[in-house]
Order: sequence, then structure tokens, then C-alpha cells
Amino acid sequence: MKSLMIQGAKIIATGSAIPSFKLSNDEMSKIVETSDEWISSRTGIKERRLLTEKSQSINDLAISASQQALEKASMDPSEVDLIILATSSPSDLFGSASRIQFEIGAKNAVAFDLTAACSGFVVGLVTAFQFLQTNTYRNILVIGADVLSQWVDWSDRSTCILFGDAAGAAIVQSCSSIHNSILSFKINTDGKYASHLSISYEKSLHKLSVGNLKLYQGAFKHVYMNGREVYKFAVSQVPLSILSCLEASNMSVQDIDWLVLHQANERILTAVAEKLSISSKKIISNLSKYGNTSAASIPLALDEAIKEHKISDNDIVVIAGFGAGLTWGTIILRW
Ligand code: COA
Repeated sequence: MKSLMIQGAKIIATGSAIPSFKLSNDEMSKIVETSDEWISSRTGIKERRLLTEKSQSINDLAISASQQALEKASMDPSEVDLIILATSSPSDLFGSASRIQFEIGAKNAVAFDLTAACSGFVVGLVTAFQFLQTNTYRNILVIGADVLSQWVDWSDRSTCILFGDAAGAAIVQSCSSIHNSILSFKINTDGKYASHLSISYEKSLHKLSVGNLKLYQGAFKHVYMNGREVYKFAVSQVPLSILSCLEASNMSVQDIDWLVLHQANERILTAVAEKLSISSKKIISNLSKYGNTSAASIPLALDEAIKEHKISDNDIVVIAGFGAGLTWGTIILRW
């Protein structure tokens, strides 16, 4: 444990990875009764990437995204102090972060998984800031990765059309407090509505022949979603969260250069922008190509925006995630 002097933190590099297999809406309509017109008009999604190789897992995507970020930062993996893997679809319920730590050669890093569904990357970044600001660690790799194609019911047209697989990663580094790029953040949870979006565990009785001992074991079900309620939650809470963060950093909506929202649905992006009276030109959107990639969506969108040279130094970037839990959160960054 090092000194508790407050430091700043900065994202110094990003990376992302998507599976090569692409499923268009027309192809989707051969799996369930739907159409390109229905999916596009209600969600803005045109196609999604799916992990189709039996030998591949979320780890492959997360490793590839992490290696890209390390390369961009010209950082040796041994310099990483902590790896946070935000995911709801690990390859191992005990956690996948330690496998990634080994595979990328981050031999000095502590590694753990963090589950906060589609808000996972935001919660992961906020967690990383705490370790950086207290000077506990210097370099943290935050990964958002999900393969929800493995958890949707491919006969349920109300959910299977929405999700895609991907990973995104960011390297966050401590810096002097003067150069701190994290201007404010806010994360929230409302467990009262957890049942609106879940992959619940269903138990059944396993009788054991030892006295009266009763044991229950089971399996996880598929993604369940009350789409209308989730939609209402997102368009009401996300603008409030962003406004509260802006206020905390003495800023207004006019100061925002880029809005990087969780890529769930184009209609949600538009509704949030309208509520904030922010130009749609400032919204980063790539969900037409990938669908909702859960914890991966924000780092994937961020990485693409950086590759396309949209985000420049000193831009004010607002990142906001929302999803199961229900959880939501905002971070305001000066790039
Ligand atoms: N293709 C064609 N028809 C479909 C369909 C599909 N893929 N999915 C549902 N339908 C049908 C329903 O069966 C229903 O038919 P009915 O009226 O005959 O019963 C009709 O379309 C309307 O269904 P509904 O679920 O009310 O649609 P909606 O207008 O609410 O749109 C969502 C559905 C999912 C697009 C919308 O609720 C949404 O975007 N919610 C937010 C979801 C989200 O972003 N979740 C992730 C957050 S992290």
C-alpha cells in the first residue's frame, strides 16, 4: 500500500475486438419471425457479430482488445498492476480475469471480474480511478467484454435480435492531479427493478441419500427482458445522471463535445440527446454494426471514435452506461 496522496487518472490507450462472423437482420429473419424493417426501425441495429467457433471464448476477444491497448500505449504487460474484467458472461464462474492476466503476460497484475451488466465498463473505470487516485496502483487495464449470444434464447425474437459479442479495453494511468482527466462520475443501482432484465439461476431439488439433507442445484436461464420498462428507465435516468455529473463539475450541456452512451438502441440514444438538447452530431453511435454488446459497447465505441480521429485532446467526453441491475452511471472526462 502506497501513500494516500490524491493523484489524477487518465485513459492513455484503448483497444477492441469483434468476432469475424456477421449476422445481418435478413439472416436473423431466417432464425426467428422478424424483419430488417422491424429491427432497424425499432432499434437501429442492422447486423451483429457473433462468436461462432467452439474453441473460442470471451477470453479470446478480451485478450485481443487488451493486447491492442497495450501496444498503443507501448506498455510492457508486466507494467500492468491491476486488470478489471467487466463481464456478465465469463468463461468461468470463478472469474475469467486471471486467465487473461496469464495469457497477456501481465505477471505483476492483480486480476478480478466485475459484474454490472451493460454498466460494467463504467463501474470498472470508476473502480480503477479509486486505486489510481489513492496512488495504490499506476497502470490499470479495464476490459469490458460480453458474449451474450451464448445466453439469449435463439427462439425469443424480442431479445435475440438485440445482442452481439465484442470486447473493448482501456489502459488507465495515474498522473499528477493537475492533469487529472476524470472531472466527475456518478454510479447508481436500483435493485427493486432487477427482474426487468436478468439471466436468473433456476434451482431444482437434488435429493441426496443422507438423512433429511436437501440440496438444490440448477442452471442459468436465458436473458429475460421487459423491453418497455428498460426503455423507460434508460431514457429517464440517463439524462438525470449526466446532468448531475455536469453540475458536479460546474459544466453545462453546451460544454459536451462527445456523448458515448451504452449502445443499446438508437432510439434511446436519440431520446437522451433530445432530453439534453444536445446535437445528434455529438453522439457516438456504432450499434447498427454490432447491436448491444453489453459491457463491451462503450469501450468499443470509444476505441472506434479514437481510431476515426473524432475525439481530440481537451474534448469533453461524457460516457454513460445503463442496464441490468438495474444499474447506470456517468463519467465526465477531459480527453
Ligand atoms: N420482430 C417482429 N416483431 C417483434 C419482435 C421482432 N424481433 N419482437 C417483438 N415483436 C412484436 C411483439 O410480439 C409485439 O407484438 P404484438 O403487439 O402482436 O404482441 C410487438 O412486436 C410489440 O412488442 P413490444 O415488445 O411492445 O415492442 P417495443 O415497441 O417495446 O420494442 C424493443 C421492443 C425491445 C425494441 C424496445 O422495448 C426497446 O428498445 N427496449 C429497450 C431494450 C434495451 O435497450 N435493452 C437493453 C438495455 S441494456
